[in-house]
Amino acid sequence: MASVDVSLGPVPETLLWTLWHRAVEARRPDRVLDDPLAVELVERIEFPFVERFGDGERLSQWQALRARCFDDEIRRFLSRHPGDTVVALGEGLETQLWRVDDGRVRWVTVDLPEVIALRRELLPLHDRNRMIAASVLDHAWTSAVPPNTDVLVTAQGLLMYLAPGEVRELITVCADRFRPGALVFDAVPRWLVERSRRGGFRTQSGYAPPAWSWGLDRGEERRLRALPHVASLAALRLPRGRRAVHGWVLPLATRVPAVRRRLLSVLVARFG
Ligand SMILES: C[S@@+](CC[C@H](N)C(=O)[O-])C[C@H]1O[C@@H](n2cnc3c(N)ncnc32)[C@H](O)[C@@H]1O
Repeated sequence: MASVDVSLGPVPETLLWTLWHRAVEARRPDRVLDDPLAVELVERIEFPFVERFGDGERLSQWQALRARCFDDEIRRFLSRHPGDTVVALGEGLETQLWRVDDGRVRWVTVDLPEVIALRRELLPLHDRNRMIAASVLDHAWTSAVPPNTDVLVTAQGLLMYLAPGEVRELITVCADRFRPGALVFDAVPRWLVERSRRGGFRTQSGYAPPAWSWGLDRGEERRLRALPHVASLAALRLPRGRRAVHGWVLPLATRVPAVRRRLLSVLVARFG
């Protein structure tokens, strides 16, 4: 298959960061995530992945476990709502649909036009996947979601790139439009957002993602819980991975709210 040269702006480029780490993990015999399509994608994309993002095992395992946390929540939703709808906001080159597909789910992808063009070029056609080339901040995308269906919205690796007011407005729109439904999302802790804004956040390999804008602390959790039609907000447990850090330290830490708030976490907001 022909290789594809990819050049994206700083925020869309972060989709290559997360894709790369899932693929690094998926290549391992003792992987925590099965994702042959991600491996195939990074083989086709012309991009200096290792030079730009490194290939550290710890970060790759963590990115893969985070994706699995989303996968598990989506599978729970599909088992209760076969044939209903998942809306993946800021989906980048996630191959989640192929990991969790139950043969019935209707899947709506929303991302910026340059990213949707790339998805169309690189990913196999899928007859239940509708793609919307738009900013999630243009709430017109909500009318592309099929009516008379239960909806699970996902925002994996997205909300930290939006301004706090934009995040709250997006959640308010989802809660109003998709109740009873839910939003699964991940959140960077507020202290790490501050550090990234001062230019002080780099991965071990030296990669600095674009500065984050929105993060979570106790006050922000309170504000989210108070949004109209947000019935509950709860952190999800990170699946267990290999070795001490991912095998028990982080999974245990995510059960203790005060510790969990210091780390990146995956949460679910239920609408009612
Ligand atoms: C870190 S990547 C995450 C991609 C994918 N969800 C994953 O986990 O691999 C961030 C994604 O959010 C998308 N994004 C950022 N701002 C957006 C916006 N305003 N509207 C739609 N997508 C946006 C980017 O284009 C990119 O695909």
